[in-house]
Order: sequence, then C-alpha cells, then structure tokens
Amino acid sequence: MENRYVLAERSERVLVLRLNRPKQLNALNTELMSELVSALEEADRDPEVGSVVITGDERAFAAGADIREMAEASPAEMLLRNNLALWDRIQGIGKPIIAAVSGYALGGGCELAMACDMIVASETASFGQPEIDIGVMPGAGGTQRLTRAIGKARAMEMVLTGRPITAREALELGLVNRVVPREVYLEEAAALAREIASKPPIAVRLAKQSVRRALDTTIDTGLEFERRAFYMLFSTEDQKEGMRAFVEKRRPEWKGR
Ligand code: HXC
Repeated sequence: MENRYVLAERSERVLVLRLNRPKQLNALNTELMSELVSALEEADRDPEVGSVVITGDERAFAAGADIREMAEASPAEMLLRNNLALWDRIQGIGKPIIAAVSGYALGGGCELAMACDMIVASETASFGQPEIDIGVMPGAGGTQRLTRAIGKARAMEMVLTGRPITAREALELGLVNRVVPREVYLEEAAALAREIASKPPIAVRLAKQSVRRALDTTIDTGLEFERRAFYMLFSTEDQKEGMRAFVEKRRPEWKGR
C-alpha cells in the first residue's frame, strides 16, 4: 500500500503508524484519516500484529482536523463528505491501540488520542479542544470522551475556554497513562504495546471490548458482556495452555486460537 500521510513500520508484533504531514503539524485531512483507518483495519486482520501505536512527530501528534479543508464547507458538504464515518471505524478495531503523543494534541488530534485505548505522553505534550476559538466545537468525540475521561468540570473548562492542558495535568486528570521524557516517549509506548502484543490475542481482544463497554453501557449490561466474554475464552486453546502452564509451572506458549 502506497501511503502518503501515514508511515507504517512493524517491529515484531507491534505496528507503529506515524502521521506524516509535519509541515501542517499533522493536521488530519481526509486523505490522512482514510490512510490511517485503512492501515488500522489491515492491522486488525493481520495475525502477525498484536497491537498498534499511533504517533506523530516531536512537535505535534496532530494539531486537529485540517481547518483549510473545511473552512468554506456548507453543512450539506460536511454531511456528504461524511468524514466522521472514518472516525467511527476506529471504534471497531479489536486490537489495542496506543497513542504516543509529543507536542500538540489539539482538537481532532486530542480526539484521535482519546479514541485510542491508552496514551503515553512526552513531557512536551499538550492536550486541548480549541475548536471554540475557530467558531465551532469538538466534533469527533471530544465532548463525550473527554468528559468520560476527566469529568464534567474540567471537560467543560477545556471545551468552553479552548485552553490546553499540559502532559502533567493530563496525567493528574487520568487522561493519559504516563508521562515520560521527550527522548523516550515513543520507545515507552512501543514497550507497552510489545508487552500487550505478547499476551494471548483473543483474550486481549475480548478484554479490550469489555473495558470499552464499561464506558457506554449500564453496569448490568456491561457485567453480562464481561461474563459471556469470560466464558467464551474457555473455548480457546490459549485458555487451556495458559492454565495448564500455570499448573505445570512453565511459561505458556500462545497460539492465538
Ligand atoms: C490546517 C494547520 C492546522 C490545522 C496547524 N496548521 N494546525 N493547518 N489545520 N488544524 C498549519 C498552519 O496553518 C501552518 O501552515 C503550519 O501548520 C504550522 O502552524 P503554525 O500555526 O504556523 O505554528 P505555530 O505558530 O507554532 O502554532 C501552533 C498551533 C497552531 C498553536 C498548534 O497551528 C494552531 O492553533 N493550530 C490550529 C489548532 C486548532 O484549532 N485545532 C482544531 C481544529 S478543528 P503554513 O502553511 O501557514 O505554514 C478540529 C475539529 C475536529 O480539529 C472535529 C471533526 C473531525
């Protein structure tokens, strides 16, 4: 696949997808989003890939949706372009996705990081929803995911003032998993991705789905989903292998079946 805006590099079972529009601070235009989503879906089907890291460069993870692309659009044009359908497809990815964020994660950039399962941030990262300052508001999940992640009070403040928060603040608020020096943010994210990629893949997939379910359903429905997923894992070879290996005091060898 010939990608212009998303570079893919696989190391063992981890696929790193790098947003690559550095001059525009990785502003998320349609082509970039479409390449990104295709690469994610391909990775989801590829048994050699266990987990994915999405990153940008040191200056910017992504400074938002491409403002130039939408500045003169009418509502009907926005509707017909239906770019947000691309974003919906990220929700359908079964493998864990980790955002490795340095520099700006603004607007759609912050929303993309939040659409991932975990965020590893460089000390230089800043997260914000500045859409209010260009006459709009978050449109790719910002009002929903940010509020679920950090609570109403702080989400309101960020969305209504447009002011970004630092990586440290994001850590205190529970928006990101960890903050590390700029030199190592990508390596830290890759290490986390590698650790997860070494686990039994079907259990990883169902566990991810179950945790995600907690965000958008009632406790009873979520518990029911979790229970079914748990029982279903007893149909996998990896469950037998994992539990037998424990009993036999040896390391398990996962088959992904
Ligand atoms: C298009 C962008 C861009 C964006 C930066 N650029 N952000 N182009 N869309 N979101 C371009 C600039 O136009 C400029 O291009 C180049 O990248 C470098 O940016 P500068 O502004 O010169 O850099 P700097 O002065 O360092 O300021 C950095 C910045 C600022 C604070 C991040 O670029 C900024 O405020 N960007 C916009 C942030 C924003 O409002 N994001 C939300 C977008 S709306 P040239 O050609 O001049 O060099 C959104 C909605 C999503 O995301 C919902 C639905 C998908």
